[in-house]
Amino acid sequence: MEKIVVNGGNPLRGEVEVSGFKNAALPIIYACALVKDKCILENIPAISDITYSFEILRGIGAKIKMLDKTTYEVDCTYIKPCISDYELVRKIRGSYYLLGAEFGRFGHAKVGLPGGCNFGVRPIDQHIKGFEALGGNAVTEGGYVEITSEDGAKGSNIYFDVSSVGATLNIMIAASVADGDTVIENAAREPHIVDCANFLNSCGARITGAGSDVIKIKGVKNLHGCTYAIIPDMIEAGSFMVAAAATRGSILITNVIPKHLESVSAKLEEMGVKVEEYDDSVRVSAENITLKRTNVKTLPYPGFPTDMHPQMTALLCTVDGTSYINESIYENRFRYVEELKRMGAKIKVDGRIVVIEGGTRLSAAPVMATDLRAGIAIVIAALTAKGKTEISEIDKIERGYDDITTKLRNLGADIKKIVLPDPNGLQIAN
Ligand code: EPU
Repeated sequence: MEKIVVNGGNPLRGEVEVSGFKNAALPIIYACALVKDKCILENIPAISDITYSFEILRGIGAKIKMLDKTTYEVDCTYIKPCISDYELVRKIRGSYYLLGAEFGRFGHAKVGLPGGCNFGVRPIDQHIKGFEALGGNAVTEGGYVEITSEDGAKGSNIYFDVSSVGATLNIMIAASVADGDTVIENAAREPHIVDCANFLNSCGARITGAGSDVIKIKGVKNLHGCTYAIIPDMIEAGSFMVAAAATRGSILITNVIPKHLESVSAKLEEMGVKVEEYDDSVRVSAENITLKRTNVKTLPYPGFPTDMHPQMTALLCTVDGTSYINESIYENRFRYVEELKRMGAKIKVDGRIVVIEGGTRLSAAPVMATDLRAGIAIVIAALTAKGKTEISEIDKIERGYDDITTKLRNLGADIKKIVLPDPNGLQIAN
């Protein structure tokens, strides 16, 4: 068992580099399954969701080589559409992109239902609606989704009932090699949609409109390999921004696209935090500033990201007054609240609204990461708290944060990962 131990109270100072974006890298890795050639992927983060995804692709015959710490060669020339390891597939959400990739390439896909963070019901009905529009016959049975079409994916018009990142990507991946043209309406507009479209276009796909709510795809017969660098992780960057504000520190965050951070920057500035944008970095300072309370509503991009909600709660606990967060994407992204309450936070959940009575310093307690972003929110809370907080279930944090303890320690945090190998004692991991 591993834990993160944080001795709170140090303001973050210095410089930190953001890794590649998990939620862009995942669809791009699975989209490699469309390509009968080698793709070189750069700026891949060292996180477990990526390790599992490479294992899943290897399981269907892909050859994957690590070229350096963040660069991989992915060769899917000889993959076969066999059933992937059910337990592996259900560990992560992004594994559902294998449906789009295998259906596009072979006209047949059978993949276990995905896992990922538990936010209540997370249906995939829009993915299924899209695959059916592309001519697939979809059956969900025994924990698997199977999509079949005798003559392969056919271009079509699809209108999504909700803005879904996953459904937009899955259908875009399959449609890029479908027979004919596809139009996706009410498409999600997140930067990772644009990144995946750019990757596919670099392989010879013909996709326009990614980043808007109408994406047009002219199906092509074959894709070729390319070298492609994944965009920086806007949620990792946002998490560092909020951590700097919560600890009243001052940090420079490098390898970012400031445009992707606008909703977070605007909210922090509204609270009184100083945010300076440069070409590919942002400086966030809250030293000696009395921050103001605020309200947040999570929305699809370019609105405030749901994946920054728990971190904002941790920050608002440090600010005098009552703040409100309205979670409009997920029905139940609130399990972290009980953990913050163990640290003395005064928070209530009323329907989809989190009510935070801020201004009382939190104190250390044994807590756990209930999911990925909940986990980083608890780390942020622990950085501000009095005493030594022990956080368990940290594998959930490592699903999406590349070497978080080292990055925070280099910013002056008193943080370490400990391994409990046997009942005889503690061992420091990194
Ligand atoms: N939805 C449906 N039907 C569908 C698909 C989605 O009703 O077929 C609903 C969902 O229940 C949710 C909303 O639509 O209420 C948005 O879901 P979306 O499909 O956009 O989410 P996702 O693709 O499952 C990705 C990220 C999440 C992030 C969301 C929203 C990946 C692997 N996951 O999930 O990231 O919260 O988009 O931006 O890209 C995270 O990184 O911590 C994380 C949870």
